[in-house]
Amino acid sequence: MVSTAFTMAVAKGRILQDAEALWQNSGWIWPVANGTRQLWFPPQKRQPGLIIARGRDILTMVRLGIADMGIVGHDILLEYGSCGLLDVADLKFAACRIVLAGQTQEWPQGPVRVASKYQNVSQKFFETLGHPVEIVPLSGSLELAPGLGIAPFIIDIVDTGQTLKEHHLVEIHTIHHSSARLIANPARWRTQRQLIEARNKLMVAPQPIVK
Ligand code: PRP
Repeated sequence: MVSTAFTMAVAKGRILQDAEALWQNSGWIWPVANGTRQLWFPPQKRQPGLIIARGRDILTMVRLGIADMGIVGHDILLEYGSCGLLDVADLKFAACRIVLAGQTQEWPQGPVRVASKYQNVSQKFFETLGHPVEIVPLSGSLELAPGLGIAPFIIDIVDTGQTLKEHHLVEIHTIHHSSARLIANPARWRTQRQLIEARNKLMVAPQPIVK
């Protein structure tokens, strides 16, 4: 008998919150019990396995075939590249933007220091503008950077805008739009029919309710 088991890796955070609804709307049982810290749920009969990991690590897992498919933000693909992976579909939830923000709406003048966890995206953005830049790498809580004097500008994800507002920051420019993307290991995609079926289920599933 041909196995129908496959495993999907889902990014922690916003994507994971919305993935629960998407999973259920696709007719699968969400395996994550309330309050659990468990990160790996092996596949069951007719139920995909689930791995919960950081977006960047999901690229590695799908590339290695540890997971057959993954759901990550487009921001992760923009930053780290989808090299060797199939970008199967835009699932259109967990929408957000990568923006340049600062304490005023003024564009940076002269050589500029920018804090970001998107170092490649940031470098490329300023390079395209021909604007000299120093990127200060931070891995989170970017909105602290201007107030603490780490860097006057940040490049970060904005969803509701609340975090920027609470740190007296304003958007200057939207660099990219992002939403959840379904990615796949190319060899598995070619040989495992159930992955295409899973894609079809996810694509027709009603959108997760935005909280
Ligand atoms: C993201 C992002 C902002 C915040 C924006 O952070 O880095 O801090 O969400 O959301 P908002 O526009 O709705 O306020 P996340 O919570 O993912 O954590 P991080 O800062 O540690 O990356």
